[in-house]
Amino acid sequence: MRYTGIIENYKDRLPVSESTRIISLGEGNTPLIRLDNIPREIEKAVDIYIKYEGLNPTGSFKDRGMTMAVTKAVESGSKAIICASTGNTSAAAAAYAARAGIKAFVLIPEGKIALGKLAQAMIHGAVIIQIKGNFDDGMRLVKEVAEHAPVSIVNSINPYRLQGQKTAAFEIIEQLGFAPDYHCLPVGNAGNISAHWMGYTEYKDYGKVNNTPRMVGYQAAGAAPFIKGSMVDKPDTIATAIRIGHPQSWDLAWNAQKESDGWFDSCTDDEILEAQKLLTEKEGIFCEPASATSIAGAVRDIKNGKIPEGSKVVCTLTGHGLKDPDTAISQCSSDMININPIMEEVRDAIINNM
Ligand code: F0G
Repeated sequence: MRYTGIIENYKDRLPVSESTRIISLGEGNTPLIRLDNIPREIEKAVDIYIKYEGLNPTGSFKDRGMTMAVTKAVESGSKAIICASTGNTSAAAAAYAARAGIKAFVLIPEGKIALGKLAQAMIHGAVIIQIKGNFDDGMRLVKEVAEHAPVSIVNSINPYRLQGQKTAAFEIIEQLGFAPDYHCLPVGNAGNISAHWMGYTEYKDYGKVNNTPRMVGYQAAGAAPFIKGSMVDKPDTIATAIRIGHPQSWDLAWNAQKESDGWFDSCTDDEILEAQKLLTEKEGIFCEPASATSIAGAVRDIKNGKIPEGSKVVCTLTGHGLKDPDTAISQCSSDMININPIMEEVRDAIINNM
């Protein structure tokens, strides 16, 4: 049967009815890839699985939430949606609004969103409002303006977003045949870790599994309110997707951490970029910097024994590497060889670099 997206696939567990017009781009059903080389490299007997959410239609996990949020906005008669975004939410909002035939307004922090995400919002025809401020300013403005203009908010404060995103946990359980011991995610606005916890507990209550994973959230060191224990006013990190100091799902995420007996920790920008390279070079998997935070943290906690040998670990790779070509290229530009168009020079380039 042709796969037609998360709402069709999980309609028994989502707030839709038979008459709901589903706005979908075939999101979800992403691969769960077992890492071969990294566990060997770090000499630890752990099973690490990557939930490759960068393979969703717009290249990030946001599509799971956006199909629900836009479907419900359209169902309620809304003609326009709005969000603040570090990039991926705006890309997803723009695409699903185009599919639905409604308008998308996106507020983005000027100069702080990756090129691929900006291209997506532009080409899908969203109205792009750049603000001289960060994501948290954008979020505040979106909440204020929604009281004064006919727009539906599609940030993760919209409960339908988390409903859609919880399906990633359902898929993981179905793909593994059990729930993992640990689930590691990058944390920014904190919606996704909360949605996953919702999905895992729902499947346990439903009797599909009898355990739930410990939820582990990793933040960028310069944008780490969960590690500080309070909001951060001037967040900064190369991982622009998670450059957030005032997470909206603060209480939900703390609840996920406490109920699951998990933890929060932070990774430096250097650790994040190192993990991004490790994945690309050792496993052939390309994710954006924010996504690599889950690998950076998980590998560190596996090495130091906090995640013990014998564990089954899932790391979510939230967004595709092509979202942020600038950061990728700037990490690797010295690796390029420039030659004249002569066979001997190509041959030498090969021989010298075997
Ligand atoms: N990874 C990526 C690639 C993201 O785009 C985001 C959030 C996160 C992780 C963090 O997820 O917010 O649920 O904790 N991006 C939002 C956006 C904020 O606007 O695209 P979270």
